[in-house]
Amino acid sequence: MIEFIDHLGIAVHSIEDNLPYYEKTLGLTCEAVEEVPSQKVKTAFFKIGQTYLELLEPTAPDSPVAKFLEKNGEGIHHIAFHTKDVPAALKRAADTGARLIHETPVPGAHGKQVAFLHPKSTHGVLTEFCMPAPKSGA
Ligand code: CO
Repeated sequence: MIEFIDHLGIAVHSIEDNLPYYEKTLGLTCEAVEEVPSQKVKTAFFKIGQTYLELLEPTAPDSPVAKFLEKNGEGIHHIAFHTKDVPAALKRAADTGARLIHETPVPGAHGKQVAFLHPKSTHGVLTEFCMPAPKSGA
C-alpha cells in the first residue's frame, strides 16, 4: 500500500548551481548531499513536511539521469511513493501490466530500498517505490 509521497526527484546538471534557487529563493535547507552509486548520481535533499525534494546530478555519462538531461533538460524526473513493502508494490504493479525496471529493491539514497517502474508503462511518469532498509541484525 502506498502511504505518502516520499520525494520528488529533480534532474539537475549541477547541485551547486541549483542551491541558490532552493536555499535563497525558496528558503529551504539542504539536509544532506549523498552519492548513490547504484544510480550513478549525487543527490541533495530538502525536507518539506514528510516529503523531500531530491536533486539528482549525474556522476557518469552513462547515468540514467545524464540521459534524461540530454533528452529533457533540467526538471522533474520521478515521483517516489513510500510503502512498507516494496516487493508487494512491485508485484501489484507487474500483475496489473506495469513494466518493472527493478524486479527486486536496490539500495537507494537515505539508506532506503528502492525500485522503479518504467515510464513507458506509467503514462510517462517515472515511478519509484521506496521503504526503509531492514535494520541489520534485527
Ligand atoms: Co528517488
